[in-house]
Amino acid sequence: MSLFRKKSVEHLLATSAQTAGLKKALGGLDLTFLGVGAIIGTGIFVLTGTGAVQAGPALMISFVIAAIACGFAALAYAEFASTIPVAGSIYTYSYATLGELAAWIIGWDLMLEYGLATSAVSVGWSGYLQSLLSGFGVSLPTALTAAPGAIPGVHTLFNLPAFLVMMAITTLLSVGIRESARINNIMVAIKVTVVLLVIVVGVFHVTPANWHPFMPNGWSGVFGAAAVMFFAFIGFDAVSSAAEEVKNPKRDLPVGIIASLGVCAVLYVAVAAVVTGIVPSEKFVGISHPVSYALQLAGQNWVAGFIDLGAVLGMLTVILVMAYGQTRVIFAMSRDGLLPAKLSKVHPRFSTPFFTTWLVGIFFGLIGALVPLNVLAELINIGTLAAFSMVSIAVLVLRKTHPDLPRAFRCPGVPVVPVLAVASCLFLMLNLKGVTWGAFGIWLAIGMLVYFGYSRRHSKLAK
Ligand code: ALA
Repeated sequence: MSLFRKKSVEHLLATSAQTAGLKKALGGLDLTFLGVGAIIGTGIFVLTGTGAVQAGPALMISFVIAAIACGFAALAYAEFASTIPVAGSIYTYSYATLGELAAWIIGWDLMLEYGLATSAVSVGWSGYLQSLLSGFGVSLPTALTAAPGAIPGVHTLFNLPAFLVMMAITTLLSVGIRESARINNIMVAIKVTVVLLVIVVGVFHVTPANWHPFMPNGWSGVFGAAAVMFFAFIGFDAVSSAAEEVKNPKRDLPVGIIASLGVCAVLYVAVAAVVTGIVPSEKFVGISHPVSYALQLAGQNWVAGFIDLGAVLGMLTVILVMAYGQTRVIFAMSRDGLLPAKLSKVHPRFSTPFFTTWLVGIFFGLIGALVPLNVLAELINIGTLAAFSMVSIAVLVLRKTHPDLPRAFRCPGVPVVPVLAVASCLFLMLNLKGVTWGAFGIWLAIGMLVYFGYSRRHSKLAK
C-alpha cells in the first residue's frame, strides 16, 4: 500500500505557506499572453516542415486536431492544478491526491516534457540562427550545425549553436533571472508580429496548385502529423499552473486556456496554409527553418530575415520557461526525498537550485546537440500526452474520492470532457512511431528502477 502513500492536503497547504501570499492579479487577457508566450516556438517555426512532408497541405487539419485534444486536456488540467491552491506543478498535486507512485510517474514524465523540450527548442533556435547568419554571409562548419544524422546525406556531428544557447539560458537561470511578465509581453508581441508577417506577406505568393493533392498520405499522414504538431501547443499548461494567481479562476482560466489555444490554432492553420501554398510540401525535407525558407523561395528575403530574427528572439523565452519548469520539478522531487538531496540545494548567494540548474542545462544541452529534432519532438509528445491522460483520469478519481476539496476551477462537462481528454491524448499517442513507444517504455522502465531502487526507501513521507 505504500505505493499509494499520500501527502496530506493539510500538510501541503502548511508547507506552502510561504507561497500563500501570491497576489491574485491575473485576468483573462494576462493568461492569454502567458499562454501564447509559452506556446509559440519551435513547433510552428520548425516542425511545420516535418508536418508538411507528412500530411501535405492537410497539415491545416492536423493543427486543428491537435488543438482540440489540447483543449480537452487543458480544461481537465486546470481543475487538477487549481484543486489544491499551492504553486507548483502537477507533480505536487498528484502526490497529495493520487499517491507517491503516480506522482513519481507524472514527475518522471514531466522531465520528458520540460527537459527534452528545452533541447528541442534549442535545436529549432539553432536552425533559425543559422538562417539569420547566412543572410549576413556567415556560415558555421557543417559538422557543427546539426546533430549526427539530422540532415539526410550530410555529415554532421554536433549542434553547437543549440548547445551554446542552452549554456546561456542556464547561466541566466542559475543566477536567478526569470522571465518577467514584461519580457513575456514583448516576446509575445514579437512572435505574433512575425507570424502575422508570414501570413500577410506569404498569402500573395501562394500558388493554389501547390494545395493539390491536399492529403498526399491520406488520413494516416494527417493523424501522424497531428501527433507531432501537438508539440506546437505544449506550454498551454503554463496557463493552468497559474491558477492560484488568477483573479477570478472560474471565468478567467477557461478564457485564458481557450483563447491562447484558439489564437495559436488560428495562426498555425494560416501559416500552414500559406507555407504549403508557396512551396510544394515535399520540398521541406531536411529544412531546419521552413517558415523563413518559404518566404525566401518567394523572393521575400527581407521578410525572411525578419522572421529569422523574430524566431531567434521569441524562442529564447520558451527555452527559459521550460528550463525553469524542469529545475523546479526536480527540486520538488528532491525535497520530497525521491531524488538525492543535493538536487534541492539552494545556492547561498543566488538563492537558486544552482547545481540542479547546471546539471539539467548541460545534460539537455548535450541532448539538443546530439539528437535530431524529430526524434526529440515525438518523445516529448508521448511523455506529455501520458502525463495529461493521467491528470485527466485523476480529475475523475478526485471527484469521487475527494468531492469536497476546494476547487478554484471546476472542469465543465465532467465526466465527458476528461474522458474525451484521455481519449484524444491516447489517440495522438497511438499515432506516434513505434520507436517512440520503445524509447518511452525504456524511459518508464528506468523510472521504475530509480523509484524502487532509491526513491521508495528515501521518501521523506515514508519516514
Ligand atoms: N510549443 C512550444 C514550441 O513549439 C514548446 O516551441
